[in-house]
Amino acid sequence: MSAEVIRPAELIQRKRDGEELTDAEISALILGYAKGEIPDYQLAAFCMAVFFRGLNPRETFALTDAMIRSGETIDLGAALGRKVVDKHSTGGVGDKTSLAVGPIVAACGVPLGKMSGRGLGHTGGTLDKLEAIPGYRVELGLDEFIAQVKDVGIAIVGQTADLVPADKLLYALRDVTATVDQLSLIAASIMSKKLAAGAQAIVLDVKVGDGAFMKTVDDARRLAEAMISLGHHAGREVVCLLTDMDQPLGAAVGNALEVREALHTVQGRGPADFTELVMDACARLLALSDLGIDLEEGRRRAEQAVADGSAEAKWRQWIAAQGGDPDESALETAPVIREVRATTGGVVEELGAIRVATAALHLGAGRRTKADTIDHAVGVVCHVKRGAEVAAGDLLAEVHARTDEAASVAVADVLAAYVIGNGFARERNVLLDVVD
Ligand code: URA
Repeated sequence: MSAEVIRPAELIQRKRDGEELTDAEISALILGYAKGEIPDYQLAAFCMAVFFRGLNPRETFALTDAMIRSGETIDLGAALGRKVVDKHSTGGVGDKTSLAVGPIVAACGVPLGKMSGRGLGHTGGTLDKLEAIPGYRVELGLDEFIAQVKDVGIAIVGQTADLVPADKLLYALRDVTATVDQLSLIAASIMSKKLAAGAQAIVLDVKVGDGAFMKTVDDARRLAEAMISLGHHAGREVVCLLTDMDQPLGAAVGNALEVREALHTVQGRGPADFTELVMDACARLLALSDLGIDLEEGRRRAEQAVADGSAEAKWRQWIAAQGGDPDESALETAPVIREVRATTGGVVEELGAIRVATAALHLGAGRRTKADTIDHAVGVVCHVKRGAEVAAGDLLAEVHARTDEAASVAVADVLAAYVIGNGFARERNVLLDVVD
């Protein structure tokens, strides 16, 4: 069925009225859109109908499948002759997990070839963070990408234009039509990219809380189940970690600052919550790999790679292979660094992820529109996190800014992110649950 024989307005109307669409209808709509035969305004209306009515599991798979068929697919496993693993996060504030997980897993002998995206919204995406490393090339040709994964064991690049072009178009449309945070649309968007990139086993980090698309554990579990079901349907193994995004992950929020923190974590001196998540994700990837080891042994090997320096050596080899300078000293620093100090004593009951992200965005660490350029040097470092006891005047955080004026605004924003009271901070581990 093609765009000539479906009437998009009729499909929009049927979905609006809560009816199910057939696989062929969904396929025609998505492929017609990817070819430019169906206009943005009709897909925008369709996304809004889906936002209110949802898609059932069959429709969600049909959507995912159509998005995959809109472009090329890669069989990285066949190219490497190995079982390939991948990880993906639904996105959160201070989320630099892939930067630390990649070299640790590769140092343990498991190849990781990852295609990542840029961030819109509050802070940069993985690619923006990597571009904070002077010289790092995010665009490798497919052959170069595969050769590097073979030779070095790791490559992290930008998603090629040929891979799931329908998602690129649809995501940009959803972003400006308030239709991003719909479970089936998120599941299809993430899984189409993961399935098209060819990994046989995938660890998904589903963020939950203030700074995430999914605000509650129940919603996050539903998203996890939808993505696992899509993976199984396509014959892939999928494990989902549900992780806390009520406060920023780790301490650093901002591109070069996050690269630095990822390197420190690979060196074994990262913040506790971030290190815990990185080690758990590494253990799960190693347990899913072709090494034939269990979770406990995976964890032991990941910790060993950090302790014996092989993970850091892999970091250096990887960054250099992609043209970057692997030294921490090469990262740009901001000209203005301002301390944020507590105005009152008590317990940090909350550290609002969105407020910290908004401060970082205003400093220039993220994009408001696709055309914005990112200032890699700026951001926020939260030295104190939820649950800590502080006295008035204690250092809470640092703001890294381009100008004094920007620093003053950000200091006030960051201070407002800290809720300091006399009550108890809610106990919440970084790892909330695992769905597999
Ligand atoms: N990340 C994606 O890749 N797609 C979504 O829809 C949401 C988060």
